[in-house]
Amino acid sequence: MTTSLQTAPRPLANDVGDAHWLPFTAMRQFRSQPMMFVGAEGMYYIAADGRRILDAMAGLWCVNAGHAQPRIVEAIRESAGRLDFVSSFKMSHPGAFELARRLTEVAPEGLDHVFFTNSGSEAVDSALKIARGYHRARGDAGRTKLIGRAKGYHGMGFGGLSVGGIGRHKRDFGPLLPDVAHLSLPYDRSKMGFSRGQPVTGADYADELEALLQVNDPATVAAVIVEPVIGSGGVYPPPTQYLDRLRSICTRHGILLIFDEVITGFGRLGQPFAAQAFGVTPDIITCAKGMTNGAVPMGGVIVSDLVFDAFMAGPPEAIELFHGYTYSGHPLACAAGLAALDTYEELDLFARTAALAPVWEAALHQLKGAPHVVDIRNIGLLGVVELASRPGEPGARGSLCAHSCYEDGVLVRASGDSIVLSPPLIVEEHQIEQIVASIRSGLNSMN
Ligand SMILES: Cc1ncc(COP(=O)(O)O)c(C=O)c1O
Repeated sequence: MTTSLQTAPRPLANDVGDAHWLPFTAMRQFRSQPMMFVGAEGMYYIAADGRRILDAMAGLWCVNAGHAQPRIVEAIRESAGRLDFVSSFKMSHPGAFELARRLTEVAPEGLDHVFFTNSGSEAVDSALKIARGYHRARGDAGRTKLIGRAKGYHGMGFGGLSVGGIGRHKRDFGPLLPDVAHLSLPYDRSKMGFSRGQPVTGADYADELEALLQVNDPATVAAVIVEPVIGSGGVYPPPTQYLDRLRSICTRHGILLIFDEVITGFGRLGQPFAAQAFGVTPDIITCAKGMTNGAVPMGGVIVSDLVFDAFMAGPPEAIELFHGYTYSGHPLACAAGLAALDTYEELDLFARTAALAPVWEAALHQLKGAPHVVDIRNIGLLGVVELASRPGEPGARGSLCAHSCYEDGVLVRASGDSIVLSPPLIVEEHQIEQIVASIRSGLNSMN
């Protein structure tokens, strides 16, 4: 068995076949031009053709401390040899408790309990179920409605898809959950274009929630879920005071507020969570990605005492939450999670991010005035350069620009005609300059 694995042919870059069906990928186009990586270290990927590619996406918004951090690699190795698997159903292992405790130390005050999942999508669907279960546990089972937001991305489970706000993601898969409403995107380019950090106008978009509640009857709403900064939908930082207003409206009506921090968690905004960066505490935080520095799949739902205690009120021998996954709290993921937290601390990565954010902002905004650029948004070490679409060819400029950057040795992500950026938080100033120069050259080279 070992021999056949060792001698199995490795796919060549120009002959990948179609046994592997890739997510969110134009398969037939990919086959004709496969982008393959064979290694990674620090800020760089090693492409199959041997080139070093500067990673301006932290993998997929997840490798916050850079690739192949030795402490994390070693922790995974050690854990694999010591305890490869143990179920979390009615049993556990010390690493899971240790990681949960460490997470609650960095989470906002009062969010003291962690439910482990294996991805952001599972974290979101778990959070939505916990929100409904919370109301039911308190004798308020009529609260089932969920409110999301336009352009929100909450993963690919049916729950996350339903509260998500990107129409194309839903088109082929309905019907989705009933009783879901959406807030609109708090953005108006004519007033907020080229804002640096949070737009100073637009807090009143939050008042839409009050209007929605009047239409939906607030006593039937379980939770509002938002990404504090919209990520995959195009990097939209919230207007100042917008999240505070959502918080107070939710509190007034007994509705749980969920922050989906799958991207913003673990330092992206210079604090452990965006909740702390914005000074707004939700009832539930969902996280994943940077939780293990992307090294092992893992997600989590961090809940407040209020929510947890509501579940703990029944008979002590009864299971309080009929929900979970085979790999919840997997030993390898927990080992990676603990090592990731140690690494973030050791590198003082969150403070470093806060200090570097103004440099990032200034560098990105140098692209104002470059061909096709219609907006630039940034916060922490997140950014987007939005391009005007070619008439009749939406997405063409985005993918041409990303392709040009890749040829130039820089990995950026095109989301439609937006170039989204989220480098590892260890990025150096000269690498920021390289990213911006590469995008500029891509923009200059196309019509
Ligand atoms: C805010 C947010 N929520 C949920 C998810 C889904 O996470 P996963 O892809 O790990 O399921 C993502 C993924 O990008 C995300 O950005």
